Amino acid sequence: MRELILSPSLLSADFGNLRAELATLEEAGLKWVHWDVMDGLFVPNITFGPPVIKALRKTSRLFFDVHLMIERPERYIQEFAEAGADLLCVHAESTLHLERTLSAIRDNGMQVGLSLNPGTPLNILEYVLPQLDMVLIMSVNPGFGGQSFIPFCREKICDLKNMIQKKNLSTLIQVDGGVTLDNARELFELGADILVSGSAFFGFPPYNKRHQAFLEAVA
Ligand code: DX5
Ligand code: ZN
Repeated sequence: MRELILSPSLLSADFGNLRAELATLEEAGLKWVHWDVMDGLFVPNITFGPPVIKALRKTSRLFFDVHLMIERPERYIQEFAEAGADLLCVHAESTLHLERTLSAIRDNGMQVGLSLNPGTPLNILEYVLPQLDMVLIMSVNPGFGGQSFIPFCREKICDLKNMIQKKNLSTLIQVDGGVTLDNARELFELGADILVSGSAFFGFPPYNKRHQAFLEAVA
């Protein structure tokens, strides 16, 4: 039996209280937390970077799932490793020498993730898939929380699942954007292993009950 991993996106958390938010997630039984790093170029918003992650790393045992929405992420790989990221996920659209960037993440001791915008085809994965621990299927255009799931991404998750199975790999599939209690089961059945949820998670405390509700939705 596959088990769902829920990775709450801190984008919808209380930025003034991140330490307490992380502690509450841990108490609520969450294992992962999703950090949306934005640079104001790749996407319009600016959020947080390595210093904030590093400061909070000391306070938390959660698995730090770091989603970089920044231009030329290769410039900051070592900094994110030193900050304590467990998994570093870059966008295929943001880096020119993709293989080199992915290898650098591995060489810096982190798990390797690659994210694709909704409009980016899966064929970019053809040669690099064996290098990846996780593929992130963006199911909204990145930059903002609270958007609606783009319907064609269902087919994309399914096609990716087939691609992974055909190549006999165990790459995890993460889905991010517009995930709710209503579509969680469908996404899990299509092949998602990790669901990211921002507004549909943090908007509905207490977090232990909300976490339980997501697990029950896919059971
Ligand atoms: C969007 C971010 C997502 C976002 C998801 O750019 O990558 O992680 O926080 O938010 P919801 O779950 O509200 O769509
Ligand atoms: Zn994200």
